[in-house]
Amino acid sequence: MSTSEALVVIRNRMENPTAKVGFILGSGLGHLADLVDGTAIDYSDIPGFPHAGVSGHNPKLVIGKLMGVNVAILGGREHYYENGRADAMRVPLETLAALGVDTLFATNACGSFLSEIPPGNLMLLNDHINYSGLSPLIGEPTDRRFVNLTNAYDPDIRKQLLGLAQTLQIPLREGVYAWYSGPNFETPAEIRMLKTLGADAVGMSTVPEVILGRFLDMKCCAVSVVTNMAAGLGNEHISHEHTKASAPIGAAKLERLIKAYLAQIAAA
Ligand code: HPA
Repeated sequence: MSTSEALVVIRNRMENPTAKVGFILGSGLGHLADLVDGTAIDYSDIPGFPHAGVSGHNPKLVIGKLMGVNVAILGGREHYYENGRADAMRVPLETLAALGVDTLFATNACGSFLSEIPPGNLMLLNDHINYSGLSPLIGEPTDRRFVNLTNAYDPDIRKQLLGLAQTLQIPLREGVYAWYSGPNFETPAEIRMLKTLGADAVGMSTVPEVILGRFLDMKCCAVSVVTNMAAGLGNEHISHEHTKASAPIGAAKLERLIKAYLAQIAAA
């Protein structure tokens, strides 16, 4: 119901809104939305969109052109830890799907487990571990809830992004992202455990959105900006202030990568 109400608001602001690639921007990564030539609508004006938000996010839906591609950018996300709702981004993502988005590009800030991917660098997700045990599809009554998450992170897009990063000389390694509920950061013992379980990085988002993206038949990809070594693995003091202050270093690389990705789509 809310998704159709959201669409009414968007169509009142824009004639014929349409988009191919959808983005979700993480903490400190909101700048990309400012580059779009299009229409920005505050989340607070759109039914079903998150209304509170986390500092460092830019809670606007921006629809328009970036590098010649029709995009829809979700400038911020609601996390599970805000209200205990794993499906908080369902209406925004259903709205994107209704606008024609067939590719979801999620971004986030994360803590790295790998000395090869230190702060200021990017990690391309090739899989995830849903350590929360939650799903945004709990309560979905149809058989569509049984979403297959093999290759949830689209292999063709990953290959494309790895190639572009090489051309741009941006270090880009693939890795497994573990979703930890937050809002507190992890303990060093939890990080050792997650590493033993096969994760390469940890964060508090993205996994429920990728599950929803696959539910909505979108091709999905996600890139993490490493803002810190995870608890117990580095010397910096881990804090949200630190996340917001460190994100722009990696975000500048991510912005170049995203622009090149979109330019390649526009040229195809
Ligand atoms: N843990 C969880 N989420 C994060 C981290 C972290 O170390 N850094 C940035 N987001």
